[in-house]
Amino acid sequence: MTQRIYNFSAGPAVLPEAVIQEAKDNMLSLGDTGVGVMEHSHRGPALTAVFEEAEALCRQIANIPDNYHVLFLQGGASSQFAMIPQNFLADDQTADYLVTGSWSKKAVKEAKLFGNVHTVCSSEDTTFNYIPKDRNYSDNPRYVHFTSNNTIYGTQFATEPESPNGAPLICDASSDIFSRPIDVTKYGLIYAGAQKNLGPSGVTLVIIRDDLVQQGKEGLPSMHMYRTHADAKSCFNTPPAFGIYMMKLVFQWILDRGGLEGVAETNARKAGKLYDYLDGSHLFKPTAEKESRSQMNVTFVTGDADLDKEFIAFAQKRDLDALKGHRSIGGMRASIYNAFPEAGVDHLIDVMKEFEATHASAIASDSSEQA
Ligand SMILES: Cc1ncc(COP(=O)(O)O)c(C=O)c1O
Repeated sequence: MTQRIYNFSAGPAVLPEAVIQEAKDNMLSLGDTGVGVMEHSHRGPALTAVFEEAEALCRQIANIPDNYHVLFLQGGASSQFAMIPQNFLADDQTADYLVTGSWSKKAVKEAKLFGNVHTVCSSEDTTFNYIPKDRNYSDNPRYVHFTSNNTIYGTQFATEPESPNGAPLICDASSDIFSRPIDVTKYGLIYAGAQKNLGPSGVTLVIIRDDLVQQGKEGLPSMHMYRTHADAKSCFNTPPAFGIYMMKLVFQWILDRGGLEGVAETNARKAGKLYDYLDGSHLFKPTAEKESRSQMNVTFVTGDADLDKEFIAFAQKRDLDALKGHRSIGGMRASIYNAFPEAGVDHLIDVMKEFEATHASAIASDSSEQA
């Protein structure tokens, strides 16, 4: 087998190796059924058991109360950008959006197709490198939407924002779901594409409170209504069965690591050592403001686009893949989701030190010129 290398991809991203191994064993025969996991009917007993277990494990991990539905949908987080306002926002109503990156902007664009959007805050003035503290809500928002982790810019909300007048709080948690404990009861709806922290692309996790399901507009296309999927337990049509199966394995993997507290502790340690190194480096600089830093996507630059390119190639030769920053902002991004091994973070730090040492004379002459 080809040697696996450290994969810093922002998504689809690295999966736990134990999960991939288990899936591999079940490709040809799911358990002792003699039929592979991708070949079973979604209405048969084998996959029904998988779906039920996936939901039960999800509820256990995040302590999800009975008045919430756990749905496994398709269309990615991007479909949720539209499905949320389509279900909940009327022409004469206003929804409040916290704009902290281009994914929130895309959510706003879709919402404007269905009603009014009020911008609570925006960090676009400094290329989204911080989470704004000043927030100005509208009087009576239908709901409040935010993006808990900004994958491209490496910023993350430390805690969920407030929502005025009991307006449902809605969160795009695509890039930090289940990376730390979450109080689901503070939310009306949480959604996440699976391909960063939960499994392969193709399945979207939606956790939605029952009163919101019931309030969803009537007369929409069936596939666009949360009610349809809640009533059919995510089996209105053929669900993304393999993705749900993989999520089930990832949920079990999270539980085996001490649940959300356990993974949060590891995530804080991984991100902490990387930021500590960056803060002390003479060559690399983190791009997000300190208080807004993400534990999932660590963004940094040298300040010289050619040197960034050189570093990415240098790292690639040392088995560190996909460190190139998002095409819209350049620089570097180390995505270190739950499944990214701590040894890979240690190796990255060693490689950055090595690169820094090879450029020591350039750094020294640069700083003497500035002095
Ligand atoms: C925070 C966030 N929201 C939404 C999306 C879009 O997800 P999808 O490709 O599943 O539609 C992404 C993709 O990277 C993301 O990082």
